Amino acid sequence: MKNRTLLVVVLSMLSFSSLATAAQAEASYKNDVVPIIHDYCLNCHEPGGKGYEKSGLNMTTYESLMKGTKFGAVIKPGDSFTSILIQVIEGRVHASIKMPYGMNGGLAKDKIEILKKWVNQGAKDN
Ligand code: HEC
Repeated sequence: MKNRTLLVVVLSMLSFSSLATAAQAEASYKNDVVPIIHDYCLNCHEPGGKGYEKSGLNMTTYESLMKGTKFGAVIKPGDSFTSILIQVIEGRVHASIKMPYGMNGGLAKDKIEILKKWVNQGAKDN
């Protein structure tokens, strides 16, 4: 009886730690990316917002985000370096189109890292 209790405890600890590792290893669109978009981008990048009006980039859904601007995709799954979305939040294109537009100092480094990680892992709808 005692041994079995111990076994259950050990097993549940194991599954807990593998869950924690999985959470660390993979960025989630729903849990990690959407909250950042919601807080820092959506204001302008939804119908009626000035980022949407000017570029055509609507970030309200995964599908519309992946569709990109009127000129095409801004995310290249697996490649954050050439993804325009990452380039503009890192200010790599031009200072005048650093996103979020007009935000002093820009997006915090840890948030940029989350978006990069998600793109590098394939920009999945996960
Ligand atoms: C205050 C409004 C505003 C916010 C907030 C904002 N944007 Fe923008 N965004 C714009 C405008 C305006 C443009 C069009 C810029 C231009 O073409 O000169 C744009 C364009 C873009 C483009 C297209 C760039 C290109 O070269 O075609 C991307 C990608 C983008 N934004 C991503 C983001 C991301 C990601 C966020 C959140 C981290 C964000 N934006 C937040 C206003 C905003």
